[in-house]
Amino acid sequence: MRIHFNLNGKAIAVDAPVGTSALSLLRDYLGLKGTKEGCGIGECGACAIEVDGKAVNACLMFAAQLDGRTVLTVEGLETPSGLHPIQEAFRDHHAVQCGYCTPGLLMSTHALLAEKPHPDHDDINTAISGHLCRCTGYKNIVSAIEAAGKNPGGKN
Ligand code: FES
Ligand code: FES
Repeated sequence: MRIHFNLNGKAIAVDAPVGTSALSLLRDYLGLKGTKEGCGIGECGACAIEVDGKAVNACLMFAAQLDGRTVLTVEGLETPSGLHPIQEAFRDHHAVQCGYCTPGLLMSTHALLAEKPHPDHDDINTAISGHLCRCTGYKNIVSAIEAAGKNPGGKN
């Protein structure tokens, strides 16, 4: 099965067996290991990516469902000048410890801010409700997302 889609700004075509998950396509066929596998059943958010601007769990999608879509992964966040402002906010607010949950949270934050550039607490809590973080206790993550919303140009 050949799948054509736009990945991090580039048109690509990739062959994978029918039944391959979108998560496996990214990690195992395209070598993009930034998207993490946690639970594999849609409960932890570690595998979140953006598809057509919406955050989705890649473990719950078939690779074939990406055909013709626009996909953004954490590898596509970095800008030519360095970290994306959301990544800077996570760094500056100590919202990262082991980092396993971080790529998924960054993608959900990116999708949230595209839809609501200045989210309130409820917006943020809803956006990250599908993400499990065993390290940070969430407070610093929420602070980082708030800061990213207040300062979309970065350099908090
Ligand atoms: S690995 Fe996809 S939600 Fe946990
Ligand atoms: S920073 Fe370790 S799971 Fe979130």
